Amino acid sequence: MTTPKTFHVKSFGCQMNVYDGERMAELMAAQGLSATDDADAADLVVLNTCHIREKATEKVYSDIGRLRKDGRKPMIAVAGCVAQAEGEEIVRRAKVDVVVGPQAYHNLPKLVADAAAGRAALDTDMPAASKFGALPGRRKSGPTAFLTVQEGCDKFCTYCVVPYTRGAEVSRPFDAIVAEAKALVDAGAREITLLGQNVNAWDDAEGRGLHGLIHALDRIEGLARIRYTTSHPNDMREGLIRAHAEVAKLMPYLHLPVQAGSDRILKAMNRSHTRDSYLRILDRVRAARPDIALSGDFIVGFPGESDADFEDTMSLVAAVGYAQCFSFKYSARPGTPAAEMDGFVPAEVMDERLQRLQAALNASQLAFNEATMGKPCQVLLERPGRKPGQKVGKSPWLQSVHLETDAAIGDLVTVEIVQAGPNSLGGVERVQAAA
Ligand code: 5AD
Ligand code: SF4
Repeated sequence: MTTPKTFHVKSFGCQMNVYDGERMAELMAAQGLSATDDADAADLVVLNTCHIREKATEKVYSDIGRLRKDGRKPMIAVAGCVAQAEGEEIVRRAKVDVVVGPQAYHNLPKLVADAAAGRAALDTDMPAASKFGALPGRRKSGPTAFLTVQEGCDKFCTYCVVPYTRGAEVSRPFDAIVAEAKALVDAGAREITLLGQNVNAWDDAEGRGLHGLIHALDRIEGLARIRYTTSHPNDMREGLIRAHAEVAKLMPYLHLPVQAGSDRILKAMNRSHTRDSYLRILDRVRAARPDIALSGDFIVGFPGESDADFEDTMSLVAAVGYAQCFSFKYSARPGTPAAEMDGFVPAEVMDERLQRLQAALNASQLAFNEATMGKPCQVLLERPGRKPGQKVGKSPWLQSVHLETDAAIGDLVTVEIVQAGPNSLGGVERVQAAA
């Protein structure tokens, strides 16, 4: 196989994969390869995969098939969580050229060179030293940027592959994060979303906690907005809750997955919080920041989930009044404890429960969106809209807002919301933005 000159990175799954995909692209560009948007024209295609549910995993194999249609033979690198979980198996099943796990992708250039020379190229090590130091600095950014501050998970929820694919909880050093944030702002970022599988577990030897990091980012001139995701209820410390009252740049949005509303199911999931302790955290967050938009994740059909358990999820949704949520049918994942549990919930029951849950979540989202009508708020412009003169940005509560404006992408504009749909808002510009 010849040495590739062009590459394309395709990321699936969570925001951390998006971040990893960007870092891999920067790394390959630094090696002199040029990026292309067209996967079918690239010499090297990096599939940055997700293993969280079975469907996500299967997508990899259909994508590999598609890339090879018409006799094309690009170099294929499988990265991400499927690479970590399946390793050699992918090479056997799909004959790909490179397999690289989420903690080893700084070695991608070497693996690509090995594959080009006909040598086996697989690296799923989880080395003690972090990959971040071996990556090139950040030089490019749109108005919004992701920044991984924490990786991995020690919580071992019984359904979840993350502790196996991403490894143990590790926090990046404070100074490295602040330096990366400054570089992103210098490169054009106005909003930074701090990422971690358990981002609010971020800490350092001084015990500064995620709120310490947020206060440090607050001092970066030119940075207008800070967000963070995803958080675990058990790591929701007082300082972080207070930061929502103290730091104006910290946006009023919290993604705090609960997964289920029944204590029996939460226990079987090994969530280590109860319905009540979760609701009490939300009360404290709302006391600190009354307008906060709350978001969560739900799983329906976990093994043993009865009708009564599911009703507990429905009543929790009604009690919280979420702004936006993600909900999934339980998917048994190889190697996780829940995959061995009794009480399989039939597919039709799961379907029906998911439909009912999503109807309730959609209604809750629409109600939240409608409640922003008439309110003035700031919108960070992210991209052009479909119609001429139109631009699309995000409200503080992470809603998409469409409006007519001459302001530039990356500007913050003051907008009055005049239209609210289930998935987006319409706004009218009120004051000309300061750049
Ligand atoms: N089946 C279905 N959903 C899952 N999630 C994690 N593991 C599974 C699984 N095995 C969901 C959880 C988590 C989100 C990222 O994906 O809701 O918060
Ligand atoms: Fe998975 Fe649970 Fe860890 Fe979240 S907290 S990543 S759901 S094991």
